[in-house]
Amino acid sequence: MMPLRLTALLAAATGLLLCSCGTNALDAESGDVPVVAGLPDTVTFADVAPIFRARCMPCHRPGQAGPFPLISYGDVRRKLKTVRKMVVHRWMPPWPADTTYSRFADEQVLTARQVALVVKWVDQGAQVGDTTSLPPIPQYPEGSLLGTPDAVVWLPDTFHIPGDNRDRFIIAKAPFELPRDTFLRAVEFVPGNRRGVHHMNGAMVGYAAGAKRDNEAGSAYIDADSTASISAYEVLHLRNDDGTWPALTPNMVNYLPGLAPALYPPGIGGYRIPRTGAFLMNTLHYGPSLKDTIDRSHFNLWFTATPPERPMHELALGTLGMSPVVPVLIIPADSVKTFTTALTVPKDISVLSINPHMHLLGKSFLAFAVTPGRDTIPMIRIKDWDFRWQYAYTFRHMLHIPKGSVIKVVAVFDNTKANRNNPYDPPRTAREPLTGHMRTTDEMLQFFVNYVDYRAGDEAISLGQ
Ligand code: HEC
Repeated sequence: MMPLRLTALLAAATGLLLCSCGTNALDAESGDVPVVAGLPDTVTFADVAPIFRARCMPCHRPGQAGPFPLISYGDVRRKLKTVRKMVVHRWMPPWPADTTYSRFADEQVLTARQVALVVKWVDQGAQVGDTTSLPPIPQYPEGSLLGTPDAVVWLPDTFHIPGDNRDRFIIAKAPFELPRDTFLRAVEFVPGNRRGVHHMNGAMVGYAAGAKRDNEAGSAYIDADSTASISAYEVLHLRNDDGTWPALTPNMVNYLPGLAPALYPPGIGGYRIPRTGAFLMNTLHYGPSLKDTIDRSHFNLWFTATPPERPMHELALGTLGMSPVVPVLIIPADSVKTFTTALTVPKDISVLSINPHMHLLGKSFLAFAVTPGRDTIPMIRIKDWDFRWQYAYTFRHMLHIPKGSVIKVVAVFDNTKANRNNPYDPPRTAREPLTGHMRTTDEMLQFFVNYVDYRAGDEAISLGQ
């Protein structure tokens, strides 16, 4: 640390501004307060309020996932000590991806300067200062992050979340019947109970005309942990009337607090949506609750007359996907073990977004592509896996991966007592499910890559909102 601090001091003394852009590798790792030149002598709430409003308020406001608001001076003042700790360790805002490895649109991270400002403010006694020229508190639209939807699809029933203080992983189905076959520009999942719903990964099932008479048959919700011997998809009655399987659009809609749904440039991505179908929630994760409560969530749909000119496709690496996990994903009790999975890219692709997935025993996750010319294209590095923050990460610009490249995933699982999230004490051997059926305590290693076929110039297309 010494040389860094010295440079910073020197820079300050000579009036040079040390770059405080982005996250510094050193301070991201340790919980150290970053050394940043050019901070005000006295930091007041007026200096830090814009940080709380932009980076904390999306979740820490009434009706959202954060357990308390962080909007007014009083709100932050009440939580001063924990706020300092969360910010210094970069535990809040939650953003597991390492920004020194690859960059994404809508990253929720504080810059070194922002961390230093908040810490200095707290350490100087959290003064109010002159807040008269603060811009007004941002207003968020109710219910949707994208505006007024064209149609809404509700879960057919409420889900009762028992107050037994445990995580619950549900598979659920929301059938729909639209006036006609059409195209979708965007779809958004809106939890009915934001404290209850932790995250959701959803796909769409689409029925060909006349293939399914009773779209609403079957259960709406299934506890993934309690359907030990029967396939969840059977209980949900997803099959066509003739017993064949309908078309599936995987990974179509994801939800995690604070993250807006994907909205790509016109003609890119987007979906065909048939008149009759259902949203299939492969994971609807309810966090632990101390009291009985309920949830009924819904989907917002935005239609478009433009067919998806460049439809999105998916590479699914790992468990139940297109490439095996090596060695077989068995994690003996009391072991920390590394696994890999690799897939050759069959054509030139432009990646839009990626979604790494593991469960409770995940410890770290790394994915990159190696081109035929032996160049490495970094995709994502998560040094400290946290199963609670399963983002789908959208790149800032389309990421070109040439034909013949190998996408490689290296993941570490920790099945020791030292892993706070280990569901068993003493630890028990964990393995991946060999059939479609899943329980929380099974492990998984998956990596989803959403892409369109490459066209020259894609690298310049921005995906930020
Ligand atoms: C993406 C949503 C999100 C954002 C953005 C966010 N938080 Fe949180 N925060 C949460 C949730 C959810 C919790 C509840 C605990 C958990 O699930 O980890 C939480 C918990 C906390 C806690 C309590 C932690 C504890 O252990 O008691 C503090 C303090 C906190 N956040 C501060 C912040 C600050 C400061 C920011 C902005 C710099 C921020 N959060 C941004 C979602 C968010």
